[in-house]
Amino acid sequence: MSVVTSERHGAVAVIVINSPPVNALSHAVRSGIAEQLAKVLADRETKAVVLHCEGRTFVAGADITEFGKPPQSPGLSDVIAALEKSPVPTIAALHGTTLGGGLELALGCHYRVATADAKWGLPEVKLGLLPGAGGTQRLPRAIGPIAALKVIVSGAHMPASLGLKEGLIAEIVPRDAKSGAIDFAERLITKTANHPSLRDDLRKVTGVDMAAYQAARAEVLSKTRGLEAPVVCAEAVDLSLNTPLDAALKKEREFFMRLVAGDQSKAQRHLFFAEREIARVPGVGPDVKPKKITSAAILGAGTMGGGIAMSFASAGIPVTLIEQSKENLDRGLAIIRKNYEASARRTGMSAEQVDAIMARITPKVGLEHAKDADIVVEAVFEEMGLKKTVFTTLDAVCKPGAVLASNTSYLSIDQIAAVTKRPGDVVGMHFFSPANVMKLLEIVRGKETKPEILATAMAVGKAINKVPVVVGNCDGFVGNRMLSQRSKQSEALLREGALPHEVDAVVTKFGFPMGPFAMGDLAGLDVGMRSRKDRGVRAEIADSICEAGRFGQKTNKGYYRYEPGSRTPQRDPEVEHIIIQASKTLGITRRPISDDEILGRMIYPMINEGARILEEGIAVRPSDIDIVWINGYGFPIGKGGPMHWADSVGLAKIAAALKDYAKASGDATLEPAPLLAKLAGEGKGFASLAQSKV
Ligand code: 3HC
Ligand code: NAI
Repeated sequence: MSVVTSERHGAVAVIVINSPPVNALSHAVRSGIAEQLAKVLADRETKAVVLHCEGRTFVAGADITEFGKPPQSPGLSDVIAALEKSPVPTIAALHGTTLGGGLELALGCHYRVATADAKWGLPEVKLGLLPGAGGTQRLPRAIGPIAALKVIVSGAHMPASLGLKEGLIAEIVPRDAKSGAIDFAERLITKTANHPSLRDDLRKVTGVDMAAYQAARAEVLSKTRGLEAPVVCAEAVDLSLNTPLDAALKKEREFFMRLVAGDQSKAQRHLFFAEREIARVPGVGPDVKPKKITSAAILGAGTMGGGIAMSFASAGIPVTLIEQSKENLDRGLAIIRKNYEASARRTGMSAEQVDAIMARITPKVGLEHAKDADIVVEAVFEEMGLKKTVFTTLDAVCKPGAVLASNTSYLSIDQIAAVTKRPGDVVGMHFFSPANVMKLLEIVRGKETKPEILATAMAVGKAINKVPVVVGNCDGFVGNRMLSQRSKQSEALLREGALPHEVDAVVTKFGFPMGPFAMGDLAGLDVGMRSRKDRGVRAEIADSICEAGRFGQKTNKGYYRYEPGSRTPQRDPEVEHIIIQASKTLGITRRPISDDEILGRMIYPMINEGARILEEGIAVRPSDIDIVWINGYGFPIGKGGPMHWADSVGLAKIAAALKDYAKASGDATLEPAPLLAKLAGEGKGFASLAQSKV
């Protein structure tokens, strides 16, 4: 059956798009609209045309899978021009999410009506693009350039009510979009013969307060570090203020073609599909249904437990927060309240709303209070003995079928599960700090974890607004296991001749928000020192720094010094002295280290570890690793994650560099992993590994 059809309702012709799942503007949809429009306009009975979509949404954009392929006629702009030129009024009937090319299509119509729950936006910027079919010109004409700038540069989804207020949407329809639009069209036919097209409507783009416009422009661009698309989006909106439409559309097209061919957009499109791919987990097919979760218990009200409790409570899930003493509970709760109050000041949430969320958290002392919870997330100290005691107790008190999750950073889920009589119900849920903010959630699959428990942990993760990625059980799972390679190299670089600010500068220039040393200072250096002591290893520089009482920001000194109350790292001669001294103690002659070498040693060993993680099946696919690094560690979005970036560098180059590092350092773990060596030898990238739909 054709994906676009038409039907007649008296004098109103309705063009119906039916291309699941999201009615994206594939070639078939574009040509279908063009054909049906020509057909209904050829009929003299037609006095108005409604554009309607079946299914869950009006058109949600261009078909992203067609990008990078040779364009096929008709282009979206041709279809929009035909709608705009129509001698009878055209009305877009919006429901669901009208996004990107979908909104551009609607902007080509003379009117737009929408259901009350409809959302609209131009999210192209999130794919490293700009709206390429007139959105940067027609949206400013519809709602004014300042509002349009905010919509286009943020890529955010906007509510129908805002569209109504700003003049984008003519009417909110009482019931479904289709009948509402037909009703609107019938009234229109009788009322007026004049139908506005945005092409000719310059009212909102003339006489603009340029100072206000420039201020809004600077404000929206201030949050888009290092990405090209937001800047180009703003440049395109600028054109709407002073350039005739056709010339501006030509320019917009050129901008689009440039961005779509660029590395950043390729990386961001890769991430779009990678984010959807993570939901496909081997052994967890669509037949595996998650359990219903209506209550949670969180164990430990410390750094992580507090943030995890906030994530559940904010999502509307009642939480029992359990500690070992009333004093710890009170301290934890006070921090939670302080965090909510701070975010209320930022977001405009009312005191009543804060109270309502806080009321979902019930503080208790004693693990027996976990007995009624559908899911328990343990976040007590990182000690295997303690975790085993806690899970033995949970096994005794929790109701049958409850999900028993641990937030451990490094410990074995299998060992923890083994102390229970229900190891199949045990799973890792590894949140990242601060847990109320960070999106990443590693779901650690133990060897006994049941598919239903895994599916439930994933569904809960989504429900509490996280990005859940299923990983296997090993030391540090995916993210921290790779990070430990970087930590090893950062210590080595200092030993051999670099200084903390030099390494951090290279890493931030690459696009990370922080370098490893500034990040260490923020997280606290004592944590790593304790873990090294437990494992009986010494890192000469890191340990000397801790031994000098420098634990990071909390002591106002670590790898850097900090003015009291400030978080800005300052170089500190005392640290540089410790480093130079450590090189001497170890008998190393310091040498200048180039930025290229620093970057390679910061990132290639992590990629190498990523290859091992793939060989061992700890990550399902390379793109899952990218999602971990983007959402948990601030890997620059425009580079698409470590594995995607590795492909763009070329695995042969990375393998050769790793060989050199291994030779120079005598560290055999730096030798290319067999998978990396194999792909490099075959001239392939990680993307060539099966990304099969499971
Ligand atoms: N093109 C191709 N496939 C798309 C698509 C698109 N624009 N939008 C969604 N899909 C696919 C997804 O990949 C997914 O496929 P899968 O089931 O095989 O994994 C399926 O549709 C369902 O998508 P979601 O899982 O994301 O469904 P949700 O209901 O969670 O979300 C949505 C729906 C909000 C529409 C979300 O899919 C979305 O944000 N889509 C992208 C919207 C977008 O970026 N539009 C702009 C495109 S660029 C453009 O229009 C250029 C123009 O200016 C010229
Ligand atoms: P924390 O020291 O801040 O908090 C732990 C809390 O657990 C303390 O308040 C303690 O009183 C409580 N506790 C200890 N025994 C208990 C018991 N028997 N019953 C109830 N409460 C008990 O520790 P943090 O940093 O929150 O870490 C918790 C877990 O999360 C650890 O396993 C850690 O490895 C993991 N984790 C930590 C991250 C971090 O950045 N801090 C990141 C991701 C995971």
